[in-house]
Amino acid sequence: MTSVVIPVNPFDLVIFGATGDLAMRKLLPALFRRHAVAQIPEDARIIGLSLSNHNTKKYRQLATDALKKHIPADELDAELLESFMQRVHYIPNDVTDPNGWTELVDMLGEFPDRIRVYYLAVSPSFFGVIAHGLSNAGLSDGKARLVVEKPLGHDLKSAKQLNAEIGSVFEEHCIYRIDHYLGKETVQNLMALRFANALFEPIWNSQSIDHVQITAAESLGVGTRGGYYDNSGAMRDMVQNHLMQLICLLAMEPPHAFNADAVRDEKLKVLRALRPLKGHEALEKTVRGQYLAGSDSPSYVDEAKNPGSTTECYVAIEVEIENWRWAGVPFYLRTGKKLRSQVTEIAVVFKKPPHIVFGNLSTPISNNVLSIRLQPDEGLELELMTKEPGPGGFRLHSTPLDVAFADEHQTGRMPDAYERLLMDVVRGDQTLFMRGDEVEAAWEWIDPIMESWSRSGTRPETYDSNSEGPTASVEMMARSGRRWRKIQNS
Ligand code: BG6
Repeated sequence: MTSVVIPVNPFDLVIFGATGDLAMRKLLPALFRRHAVAQIPEDARIIGLSLSNHNTKKYRQLATDALKKHIPADELDAELLESFMQRVHYIPNDVTDPNGWTELVDMLGEFPDRIRVYYLAVSPSFFGVIAHGLSNAGLSDGKARLVVEKPLGHDLKSAKQLNAEIGSVFEEHCIYRIDHYLGKETVQNLMALRFANALFEPIWNSQSIDHVQITAAESLGVGTRGGYYDNSGAMRDMVQNHLMQLICLLAMEPPHAFNADAVRDEKLKVLRALRPLKGHEALEKTVRGQYLAGSDSPSYVDEAKNPGSTTECYVAIEVEIENWRWAGVPFYLRTGKKLRSQVTEIAVVFKKPPHIVFGNLSTPISNNVLSIRLQPDEGLELELMTKEPGPGGFRLHSTPLDVAFADEHQTGRMPDAYERLLMDVVRGDQTLFMRGDEVEAAWEWIDPIMESWSRSGTRPETYDSNSEGPTASVEMMARSGRRWRKIQNS
């Protein structure tokens, strides 16, 4: 099956923070790939802005170097690269200087009617300044779209402030809050699986599902990001956004239509139905961890350069959703750095048959599990019990029915999340972006947990590098008679 490319309308995309890591590692490669498949119209422009005193020629050179670093050589045809660079422009700009906007105003003024996208690839402390700068320069009218990315606040209070600041200039339908997990093909496939197949929805509830496990395990440590990461931690870095979004998509009711507000209304209901975890219960139903040094790798506290750090780089949580569909079905989340393998997976574990008719089985019947792999090797697997062939008694074993999306669709390469999301911004489709109230509802649930942690005065558990995480996390599961799935690549 070949992928279908629907060209978007002409646009000017302005990247604030154009020399930073996000722009170089993710945004320019994603735009190049959309250029390569001719999705971007010929006269669309990419305008980089940052404090550095470069000119367009120098910035094109930096952008070319970045593409060579982040895109495999066989995708980098010289002619394509050259034509892509013709779209790229650069303006040195100090966003805090009220007189610093003239050049951008003039450049955008060349095409007054086209779609304008402002991508704030800068620290959130500049979001308000830039939004107001754009407004004062007369650049924030109805065709303008503002794109922001996490951290969207540090807690509920700061998230509200941030929303209010950008909301005082841009209306909600012009604000695109990126969570790159929502742009992952497999995450969108989760919605296809649930709502384009009649098979699963009738059993997608507490009658048939025993529990759900969501794992986002990373094999790398925090490395050179240690300083930044130590002020954030796994809860703010991964749970508040990516993992909460996954819970929403898994647990939400079918929206009446696949459009931005219908989907986001349903996600919000899930966030509001999460059982609050406070005080002692928050400590009982969560585990925090920090990795120890390995034979040739430093410990978390060494990488964070903070020996007394209490920041978690691993977290596991038992989440309950208090509504009719999910009452009594725990959702277990875990995410951490420096674990055994790099794997992101959702596993829906079904209940066992109510009665076993097979008498004395040599191996017990296992639960059916539907696992949705986000990475690596995006795909679906349904574990079913089948009979082992041949005589020698009635022997059962668990057999996977496996669909690898890349093979199935012969795409060769799964598109990066940013490719999809950037084109959705240009198209004006907010379905895969977070609404302000969702972000706030997620913080509302997270804040009391973090308060309980800090009030308890306890430290995160330690765990070995390249392991499955802290033993306390295994014990947390064992208390309900369950076990984590192995952290392993398929
Ligand atoms: C980012 C986090 O949002 O997601 C990183 O800040 C994390 O700490 C990354 O490594 C994981 O994303 P992915 O797409 O590699 O699963």
